[in-house]
Amino acid sequence: MKKSILTVALCVFFSGSVLADGHGSMVADARGVVKQFFGSLKGELEKGMKTGGPVTAISVCNVKAPMIAEETGKNSGWQVARTSLKLRNPANKPDDWELRVLNYFEKRKAAGEDVTKMEYSKVVSMDGKQTFRYMKAIPTAKLCLNCHGTKLKPEVARSIDELYPEDKARGYKAGDIRGAFTLQKIL
Ligand code: HEC
Repeated sequence: MKKSILTVALCVFFSGSVLADGHGSMVADARGVVKQFFGSLKGELEKGMKTGGPVTAISVCNVKAPMIAEETGKNSGWQVARTSLKLRNPANKPDDWELRVLNYFEKRKAAGEDVTKMEYSKVVSMDGKQTFRYMKAIPTAKLCLNCHGTKLKPEVARSIDELYPEDKARGYKAGDIRGAFTLQKIL
C-alpha cells in the first residue's frame, strides 16, 4: 500500500517535471547513464584498492576511468566525462558552460543543498547544434581521500606526482564536491 502511494507520488513528480522542461526523459536517461558509469568506476576502484592498495588503484582512475566513460557513452549515445574545478588530469578541463555549472554547484552547496542530489541540465547550442547537457555533482567520500585528501601516503603521492605533475585535486574533505559527471547528447 505504502509502496503504491510512493509510486504514484513519484510518477506525479516526474510527469510534472516532464511538462515543466519538456526534457524529463532526457534527464532520466542521463541519470541512468551516470549511475551506470559511477557504479562501474566505483566497483573497479574498490576492487583495485582491495587487491593492491591505493597505488594499484591509481591505474584504475588513470586508465580505466576514461575507458569506462567511453564505453558507457558508446552504449548509451551520450558523450560522458568527468570534470572539476581542481583538476588532476588537465584533459578533464571544463569548458565555459561546465565551469559556470561547477561554480553554481559550489554556491548551492554553500547555501546548504545536499551534494548527493545536485544536478543541472539545459539545452544549449553547440557548434550550431541543439545539444542537451547534463551535469551531476560528485561528492567526496571517505574512500576518495586516499588519493584526493590532505594526507596521502608517500608512495601514493609519489605515484600521482609522476603521472600528474600539475595535480590540483588534493586537500579535499569528505562531503566536498570533488567534481561532476558531465554528459551531452545532440538533440
Ligand atoms: C587510488 C587513487 C584514487 C582514488 C581512491 C580516487 N581517485 Fe579520483 N582520480 C584519481 C586519478 C589518478 C585521477 C586522474 C584520472 C584521469 O587521468 O582521468 C582521478 C580523477 C578524478 C576525477 C576527474 C577530474 C580530475 O581531477 O581529473 C574525479 C571527478 C575524481 N577523480 C573523483 C573521485 C572520487 C569521487 C573518488 C571517490 C569515490 C575518487 N576520485 C577516488 C585517483 C583516485
